[in-house]
Amino acid sequence: MITVTDLRKVYHQGKREVRALDGVSLTVPAGSIHGVIGHSGAGKSTLVRCLTMLDRPTSGAVEINGVDLTAARSDALRTARRRIGLVFQQANLFDSRTIEANVAYPLELIGVGREKRREKARELLGLVGLGDAGNAYPAQLSGGMRQRVGIARALATDPDVLLFDEPTSALDPRTTDEILDLIVSLRDRNPDDLAVLVITHEMHVVKKICDSVSLLEGGRIVESGPLTSVVKHLDGRLSQALLGIPPHAHVAPSDATLVDVLASGDHAALPMIAHTSREVGAELAILAGSVEQLAGTTFSHLRLAVPNGADADRVVEELKKLGADARRTAEIREEEPLA
Ligand SMILES: Nc1ncnc2c1ncn2[C@@H]1O[C@H](COP(=O)(O)OP(=O)(O)OP(=O)(O)O)[C@@H](O)[C@H]1O
Ligand SMILES: [Mg+2]
Repeated sequence: MITVTDLRKVYHQGKREVRALDGVSLTVPAGSIHGVIGHSGAGKSTLVRCLTMLDRPTSGAVEINGVDLTAARSDALRTARRRIGLVFQQANLFDSRTIEANVAYPLELIGVGREKRREKARELLGLVGLGDAGNAYPAQLSGGMRQRVGIARALATDPDVLLFDEPTSALDPRTTDEILDLIVSLRDRNPDDLAVLVITHEMHVVKKICDSVSLLEGGRIVESGPLTSVVKHLDGRLSQALLGIPPHAHVAPSDATLVDVLASGDHAALPMIAHTSREVGAELAILAGSVEQLAGTTFSHLRLAVPNGADADRVVEELKKLGADARRTAEIREEEPLA
């Protein structure tokens, strides 16, 4: 389990103070995959550096299974750091070492004997699907394979937390999905032991593997929660980004008012539309729609056209009565999409 409490990092750029992290708190329990998403400059890399104490936070606490890294010094800090396996966008492997020796490297640093190292490295390479590649050199591997080696290396010290910083940003879509599947399988293998934190700017990563997500903006977490709760409301930033319909209408018909509706789980959207049409006595047209399966729950986001002459406010009311979130589309804030 990783617990971050009121983490702050202030940089000084000349006379200017930059609050790269401005009071970040989050908890990732063992067995869970948490995504942190944010635009360039939001503070993502600063968060990674402060979580691992590569950069000292200005204030706040980072606890791994109850041990506060910000309070630990030298030896204690080195031991505590081993509780975190770190995977970056590029695996940064030693080119002159075999794959097996790369994976064994963290064990070498802490004085584990040769045979034990080899055994562990082979086991981990098998786990990441590279059982045959131990004697190869990094230059002989594809980007996806190198990333697998990086993951095996991060697992060498049996960490309690796996921290991924943009793990798939340099990979093509298919390889991305293979790496994401691997991350899920690692969590599933040790659900009681492993908490996973993934820093990314890709919504796809959040959709595919995260149980919960935080949106980082200007060093602050502005939205956070389980995937199924952050997408419940139409005006949420994460909701708009995860459901994929732009918050504003590109084409606004002159003979109709646009209404957006978001229904989840048991509230099937389509009978809802038929029911509302009947109640209001107007034929509602569906102009756009997306159906997403997120963390096991179905979400339907539809954009409806309510013909002029029909009461759009009543349409909104009826849909809300049925348990959906609904609103006139023009009221939706226009903001820069996240993805
Ligand atoms: N060493 C530093 N000295 C001064 N300012 C810094 C330093 N590192 C980061 N910053 C500032 O802190 C803010 C957050 O930067 P950070 O690199 O964490 O963003 P990011 O979310 O990782 O962005 P990107 O997606 O572009 O990698 C930025 O305003 C950046 O200029
Ligand atoms: Mg960064």
